[in-house]
Amino acid sequence: MSDFFEKLKAYTEYFNNELPHFFPLPSGAEKRVVEAMLYSVANGGKRLRPFLVTETAALFGISRQQSLPTAAALEFLHSYSLIHDDLPAMDNDDLRRGKPTCHKQFDEATAILAGDGLLTYAFEILSDSQTASSATTRCHLLSLLAKAAGAFSGMIAGQMLDLSSAGNLSASEQEFLIKHIEEMKTGCLIRYACEAGAVLGNATEEQKQALITYSRKIGIAFQIADDILDVEGNPSLVGKTLNKDAEQGKLTFVSLYGLEKAKQLAAQLIADAKASIAVFGTQAQTLKDLADFIISRNK
Ligand code: IPE
Ligand code: IPE
Ligand code: MG
Ligand code: MG
Ligand code: MG
Repeated sequence: MSDFFEKLKAYTEYFNNELPHFFPLPSGAEKRVVEAMLYSVANGGKRLRPFLVTETAALFGISRQQSLPTAAALEFLHSYSLIHDDLPAMDNDDLRRGKPTCHKQFDEATAILAGDGLLTYAFEILSDSQTASSATTRCHLLSLLAKAAGAFSGMIAGQMLDLSSAGNLSASEQEFLIKHIEEMKTGCLIRYACEAGAVLGNATEEQKQALITYSRKIGIAFQIADDILDVEGNPSLVGKTLNKDAEQGKLTFVSLYGLEKAKQLAAQLIADAKASIAVFGTQAQTLKDLADFIISRNK
């Protein structure tokens, strides 16, 4: 694992250096929204989604420079989802990545626009010929991201369910609902990271399916880990206000099963995820280590 931590650190630094270059600052009064976009992108973050894009594409010989625009587009879309998730009308959070949330640092209207700006910019980047020389590949990347982030069975659908009340549901209905919530609100973008790497690398159908299975398992495990950190994380490491889920009556695997069972479930998902990419052999060691990291992380 120590090689993995070195690599993750190096890639986090790489993304931290590269991502701000995507933001030319306009000179007029409208530059405030770009400043807010940049603030939310540049203020830390684990960069796990861009790292996943890069590592998956690397399985097919794609360099990190080649996969950078796709990785950046996904991180920008993820950052938009966090800005809107933190708004008073949603989770009403003051702290994100150890800093004031976008609407606290700027104001609510600017935060809404900054989220909109990051969302649309992700699609602008994917449509650029620097992202992939083949128009078919770009179209594929665009359509997959639109679905993953969307309202029909993607991230927005998951966020809608997350806001719904589970008060009157039976235990089995709650179990069904929570799987849907976690898979959609978080899993879809994580799945996209791996699918995009496979698309950039022209993966075979078998390789693509293996990566999709891997991503679906780590996606749910990722959100379970987030829900666990909300209960027993170290606030100064997590960089978010804790105990929000219980306070706001959110349905999570932890609220449904308790901490121990949630941890067992996450561990099983990670074991399954690692087994599902056996087809790549030792080449996929970083992806296996990344799966372990998802449930051992402290932020
Ligand atoms: C937080 O995502 C939101 C969830 C989907 C749980 P991350 O834990 O990846 O947040 P950053 O990007 O590292 O801040
Ligand atoms: C957020 O889930 C998922 C998305 C932003 C799509 P949470 O609400 O649990 O994320 P945190 O805990 O605020 O990061
Ligand atoms: Mg939320
Ligand atoms: Mg939240
Ligand atoms: Mg959370």
